[in-house]
Amino acid sequence: MRRVSFSLCLMALLALALLTPVSAFPSMLRRRFQLKSILGGLADQGNNADAAVQPQVSTTGGTNNLQWVPDAAHAFQAPQSTDKRGPCPGLNAAANHGYLPRNGIVTLDQLVQAQQQVFNVAPDLGLTLAVIAVALDGDVLSERVSLGAAADSQTNSLGALGAVLGREGGLNNHNTFEADASLTRNDYYLSPDRNNFAFNGTLYKQMKSFAAQNGGLYNFDTMASYRYQRYLDSIADNGQFYFGPKVTLLYGAAAFLYRLMPNSTGLEGYGVPDEASISSFFGASYDATTDSYTHVPERIPANWRTRTTPYTLLDVVTDLNLMYLEHPAPFGVSTSRGNFVPSGAVLSNGVSTEDINGVGCALYQIILDNVPSEFDNVAITPLTVTNYIVSKLNPAFAQFGCQH
Ligand code: HEM
Repeated sequence: MRRVSFSLCLMALLALALLTPVSAFPSMLRRRFQLKSILGGLADQGNNADAAVQPQVSTTGGTNNLQWVPDAAHAFQAPQSTDKRGPCPGLNAAANHGYLPRNGIVTLDQLVQAQQQVFNVAPDLGLTLAVIAVALDGDVLSERVSLGAAADSQTNSLGALGAVLGREGGLNNHNTFEADASLTRNDYYLSPDRNNFAFNGTLYKQMKSFAAQNGGLYNFDTMASYRYQRYLDSIADNGQFYFGPKVTLLYGAAAFLYRLMPNSTGLEGYGVPDEASISSFFGASYDATTDSYTHVPERIPANWRTRTTPYTLLDVVTDLNLMYLEHPAPFGVSTSRGNFVPSGAVLSNGVSTEDINGVGCALYQIILDNVPSEFDNVAITPLTVTNYIVSKLNPAFAQFGCQH
C-alpha cells in the first residue's frame, strides 16, 4: 500500500483549491482567503509559542469499575421542542438523561464531565472533542456550544454583538465538525431542507443490514465496511460531496459504536455492540408494519453499564487509523454526481508507534486547519481561536510528540 503523508495531502488539497474553477466550488474565493489565513495564523502562532498558558491534562483518568448508567439522579426525559439536539447520538442521549443540560446549551467542562460519566471517555479525548466543538461551532469566550441548531442568546456571550464571534452554528453546522457521509444523517446537499443532523431511518436500516453480515453486531468489520459504503453512496449521489481531512473524525465516531455504546460485562473492559444497545443510543424505533425505522429520543439502554477501562485519545487515534486502512478512501470533492476528484490518499499504512504518533499529530493539524473557516467574515482573528485550541490541546497531544 502506498504511504502518503498528511502534509502531502494537505498540499494536494491546497493545489486543488487553487486549480478548481470557482464555478465548480462556489466558496472557492472565500477558501483561498481562508487557506492564506491558516498559513498566516500558524506562522503567527509559532512566534507566540509561549503566550499560551498550558494546563495539565491527564491522558487517562476515568474509572476502572463497573458502573451502572444512568444513576437515579439521571432519569430519561424526552426533550422539549425548544431543547437543542443534533447530529451526535452520544451527546443527545447524555442530554436526555440530564448528564448535560437538557436544553442542549452546554459548556466545555460539562462536555468533558458528561463524556466521562456516561461513556468513560478519558479526559484527553473528552477535552479534544469538546474543544473542537466550542472552537468551531460555539463561543470561545463563554466556552458554550449548542448541541444542535444555530446560536442564539444562550450561547452568545456578546448578546446582540455576538456575530463578531462568528456564526457559532452549533453542532448542526456543516463542514466544521459535522460532515458528509455520516452513518445515519443525510449529506447536507442531499437534503432539500439542508437537514444534515436528523436521524434517517433508511440509513439506519442500511447500517443494520451490514451488521447482519457480522452476526448482527456493529463491530469493527461492520463499521469499517459500512463507513466505506457511505463514502461510495456520497460519491454516487451527492454532486457537492466534500470529503476532507477532517472526516478522520467520522472514523472515530464510527468506532464509538463498538468502543463506547456496548453494555459492558466488565470482563473485557467493554461489551458487545448489539442491536439493543445501538438502537437505543441512536433512537432507532422499528415499525414492523412498514419494515422501517423512525426516530425516538436517544436513550441510554436499560440495565446498561459503561466500559470499565477509560477510552483515551491514543485509543481513538489507533482505532480510526485501523478502520481507515481497511478501506482507504482518498480525500477530495465532487464536481457533479459520480464525478469525484480525489486529492490524495491519507493516513499511515501501518500501526507502529511511529505511525500512530504521525496520525495523532496529523489529527492535531487537521483540527487547527479548520479554525479560520468559521471566522472568515468576522472581527475575531483566527489567531485568537488558534491560540485557544493550542492552549487547551497541546498537553493532550504531547503524547504523540507534537506541539505547537
Ligand atoms: C464533546 C464531545 C462530542 C462532540 C462535540 C460530538 C460531536 C459530533 C458531531 C458534530 C457529529 C456529526 C458527525 C457527522 O457528520 O457524521 C457526531 C457524530 C457521532 N457521535 Fe459525537 N460528539 C461527541 C462525543 C460523542 C460521544 C461520547 C459519543 C458516544 C457514543 C458519540 C457518538 C457519535 C456517533 C456514533 C456519531 C455518528 C452519528 C452518525 O453518523 O449517524 N459522540 N458527534
